[in-house]
Amino acid sequence: MTNPVYIGKSALRSNVLVAPMSGVTDFPFRRVLAQFSPGLVVSEMVASERLVEGDAENLAKASGKGVINPLSVQLVGRDPYWMAEGAKALADAGADIIDINMGCPARKVTGALSGSALMREPKLALEIIEAVVQAVDLPVTLKTRLGWDHETLNAADIAKDAESAGVVMLVVHGRTRCQFYKGEADWSAVRAVVEAVKIPVFVNGDIHDGQDALAAIDASGAVGVMVGRSLIGRPWDILDIRRAVDNIVARPISSSQKADVAVRHYKDILSFYPAAKGVRFARKHLAGYCDHSGLSKTDPLRATICQSQDPTEVEQALRQALAHMAEAA
Ligand SMILES: Cc1cc2nc3c(=O)[nH]c(=O)nc-3n(C[C@H](O)[C@H](O)[C@H](O)COP(=O)(O)O)c2cc1C
Repeated sequence: MTNPVYIGKSALRSNVLVAPMSGVTDFPFRRVLAQFSPGLVVSEMVASERLVEGDAENLAKASGKGVINPLSVQLVGRDPYWMAEGAKALADAGADIIDINMGCPARKVTGALSGSALMREPKLALEIIEAVVQAVDLPVTLKTRLGWDHETLNAADIAKDAESAGVVMLVVHGRTRCQFYKGEADWSAVRAVVEAVKIPVFVNGDIHDGQDALAAIDASGAVGVMVGRSLIGRPWDILDIRRAVDNIVARPISSSQKADVAVRHYKDILSFYPAAKGVRFARKHLAGYCDHSGLSKTDPLRATICQSQDPTEVEQALRQALAHMAEAA
């Protein structure tokens, strides 16, 4: 790797980061992703107030101490006091890095005026950042979009405030909040943020492979990339992206290794969650592995993988699907 990025005093092992995705990057999936040594695998967002109240679901979202290294946990909220208290609770739970969410467009989040809605309130955004930075002796990072809409592209201003307040790294998704996930991420628009600050900036949005990653870095001037959706069902693609971005030499992973990864992931989900919830949570990842295997929506093998309640049957079908993909290739 040519330019290691420092988060606090620690160098990241890769300039490829994995994005926080609510309902997706839970502890079992983060463990899978961590095997491929990205720089960070950020947790799902954790609601500050509920975390402080000791809510088990939010504590589970923050888990990973000693397993996911470094452990970056994302906090969401709109009250500086609760965000500071939440950060302290995360430090107690073993977090190594606190990430602040100002990028999530979900109505459930922006409806509560947090996530990307905070980009409309830069003063409050800064108060939150200051409160979190002062509350803990941990590096604090920030994830934003380009702005609320195209009339208010203020990511660079927020980035400058964040840097002055002590944030050590930024990730910018190249869309506005009002775009949700429509259109294409504008990597070149992230350049305004890169040029506004000295701290490292990572570019995010629509990066599917090594070629995209290099194009996004080239367009934005960012030090690296953050990748989200494209890793669902294909976590091993981190290696391809790392080959391009970090210049690592890594052997391609075989279909039987992929099957081992997918099966272990499935078993981890079942043991991490209570029974019915585990089956439900497993489905989206199993569907991702089916997509990666090229199974059509009507393929009976897909129905077995995504609907069977029998773990042995699911495991066998999953192995068959990934082997089928290798044969097709
Ligand atoms: C299902 C889902 C959940 C997400 N949850 C979060 C979240 O909790 N916090 C956050 O900052 N962004 C969240 N995002 C946004 C992603 O982190 C990322 O910015 C976005 O998906 C664009 O990157 P991609 O094109 O590589 O997926 C979520 C995205 C998806 C698809």
